[in-house]
Amino acid sequence: MVRWRTLTGLLATALAAVTAGSLTLTAPAAADSPVTPNVVGGTRAAQGEFPFMVRLSMGCGGALYSARLVLTAAHCVGATGTNTTITATLGVVDLQSSSRITVRSNYVYRAPGYNGNGRDWALIRLATPVTGLSTLPIANTTAYDSGTFTIAGWGAAREGGAQQRYLLKATVPFVSDSTCNSNYGGDIIAAQEICAGYASGGVDTCQGDSGGPMFRRDANNAWIQVGIVSWGNGCARPNYPGVYTQVSYFASTIASAAASLGG
Ligand code: ARG
Repeated sequence: MVRWRTLTGLLATALAAVTAGSLTLTAPAAADSPVTPNVVGGTRAAQGEFPFMVRLSMGCGGALYSARLVLTAAHCVGATGTNTTITATLGVVDLQSSSRITVRSNYVYRAPGYNGNGRDWALIRLATPVTGLSTLPIANTTAYDSGTFTIAGWGAAREGGAQQRYLLKATVPFVSDSTCNSNYGGDIIAAQEICAGYASGGVDTCQGDSGGPMFRRDANNAWIQVGIVSWGNGCARPNYPGVYTQVSYFASTIASAAASLGG
């Protein structure tokens, strides 16, 4: 049983940015060390490469859905309602950069019926709109639910590792529901979840990446979001792919919720 990890992510991140590791996006050994791709497979993203990436203060990731809305995971947030406690950091790969944009939340919308099993998505409304950053459109058909995906985040660079100052990125291949379900003993909710990773492990998202996007290029070569970092058994372990919320399945519900929040 690994489903508990979905919940531990929230707690781990609440404790901070100091805890738990995860991400298999490999990082430089130290914050100022040279960028050296290492064995696990992640590398540093360039400034401006993924302008829609958001870091959330509870220790999760997110993606800019519109000027006022951030799409993240349900397990990263509390119940639907007014919420001014979350700070979003945007516009930088270096969370310490003096050019970072920080904005408070004013409302959280958690997926209706969320109970820790599936439906792992939420929208956070920002107190003021963010300008000058491109948003990440969500896939509203299954057309892009295969192929090679990009993952990115400030979460741990290895299982049990520290949160990262610099945004890391990696690519991972699609894993079918049937393979993923056999990897996870039937725990995958096939319609709602999409898996990605190498059978040999080594590249994955990890604790602190939750809520961040998994994305790929669409037919026009534009980035499109297909997943939301949700859970996994450890990070980057062989035969345990990362499990992501399948955005296409929820796209129309997300769009309606976004509209109800003012777009
Ligand atoms: N639940 C984790 C978080 O809160 C994300 C775990 C992703 N794990 C994985 N092996 N892909 O950050």
